[in-house]
Amino acid sequence: MKTIIEPFRIKVVEPIKLTTRAQREELLRQVAFNLFAIRAEDVLIDLLTDSGTGAMSSQQWAGMMRGDESYAGAISFYRFYDSVHHLTGFTHILPTHQGRASERILFSVVGGPGKVIPNNNHFDTTRANIEHSGAEAVDLVIEEGYQIRSNHPFKGNMDPAKLQALIERVGVERIPLCMITVTNNSGGGQPVSLQNIREIRNICHQHKIPFFLDACRFAENAFFIKKREPGMQDRTVASIVRDMFDLADGATISAKKDGLVNIGGVLLLRDEQLVRDARNNLILTEGFPTYGGLAGRDLEALAQGFQEVVDEGYLTYRIRSTEYLGEKLLAAGISIIEPPGGHAIYIDAKSFCDHLPAEQFPGQALSVGLYRHAGIRSVEIGSVMFGQNGKSAPMELVRLAIPRRVYTQSHIDYVVEAILELHQHRHELRGLRIIEEPPQLRHFTVKFEEL
Ligand code: F0G
Repeated sequence: MKTIIEPFRIKVVEPIKLTTRAQREELLRQVAFNLFAIRAEDVLIDLLTDSGTGAMSSQQWAGMMRGDESYAGAISFYRFYDSVHHLTGFTHILPTHQGRASERILFSVVGGPGKVIPNNNHFDTTRANIEHSGAEAVDLVIEEGYQIRSNHPFKGNMDPAKLQALIERVGVERIPLCMITVTNNSGGGQPVSLQNIREIRNICHQHKIPFFLDACRFAENAFFIKKREPGMQDRTVASIVRDMFDLADGATISAKKDGLVNIGGVLLLRDEQLVRDARNNLILTEGFPTYGGLAGRDLEALAQGFQEVVDEGYLTYRIRSTEYLGEKLLAAGISIIEPPGGHAIYIDAKSFCDHLPAEQFPGQALSVGLYRHAGIRSVEIGSVMFGQNGKSAPMELVRLAIPRRVYTQSHIDYVVEAILELHQHRHELRGLRIIEEPPQLRHFTVKFEEL
């Protein structure tokens, strides 16, 4: 059967409302064309992020009621611990309030001036936490990772030759750890092969460099391995997940993605000294190690979410639904990062808005156009986000991130229809000019006017 069905039925519904075009026009003016400033209630389909926006299952909600809110040693912590241990094999498991808290703790312990941290592509918060510590963040993804139309099955892979060259250039003592992000969010949600994880880990270990995963989307990555890597087809996703973690000396996880929760994070470690330092930092800034900035009920939701996410019926629907959106856009001649990623589709706005130069922010123009036309919120990943100080970004993208278990297939069909209609009138999309901007991370608060 070709029809994609949601492998769940709906017990609770949340109304969404379609505003009129005139209302959206007015709202866009009020927020100076910055979609971060639109109220969520004025968005029909919100594809701003897949982070913390998922729907929980009835089992997770049942767990919430069981939450033990004791300060120390809550039973909810032990359920969380057992679930993460079962999934990853790690024994040192620190809960945090979200992914960037795990990153901050890790890099405040191992980072610092003079240090260099390689990754396939650092996510913004990872890079920011590394740089905040005084260290340097370096991206070493394979060249195919930068080619929008390359159909390499594992475009998130790290280039082993680039890693060797970096080690030779800066020296082992300046590299406190090497990271790989699965899937590679900054590179289009592309997966990393198990073979590549193993090869990079072997290079690291030859040089006694600890190897870490940024494992926010570990289950989606493992599903791609099962589908695309030779010899993996008959394995369970859970066993592939376990292999990925077995190869790592540590991991940071934002559970707001594949933890299937609205808030939460994890820091996994093996080295005893590192565990002691990280735990002290956790106590200082997040909370006691049996809750780490979360409520007991959050730990219950996490314990359950980490089990549900490796369900292959769920993952089949999840990955197929994203792929379906990508296929429909490609079939209509719309350029996207290929092949479709796990959690999001990235539209190539340079080609969509080929009448707009980078200085007029084609990604923002498309994103604004999509909201104006159909009430859909997306996010620009291009010169607004990365192009400060007069430079433009190498790619002008618009990300459509799909929240987990939230929208149905007819919502996806609506998104397809809206983008196809917009594409037919794409030369009517207007460029933008910045009228006010903050010194850093400007995309959150920048103001525009339309040209
Ligand atoms: N690492 C990756 C690969 C991420 O995608 C994110 C968050 C983080 C770390 C940080 O996790 O938000 O829990 O602190 N990505 C979200 C996104 C925000 O929209 O892609 P966090």
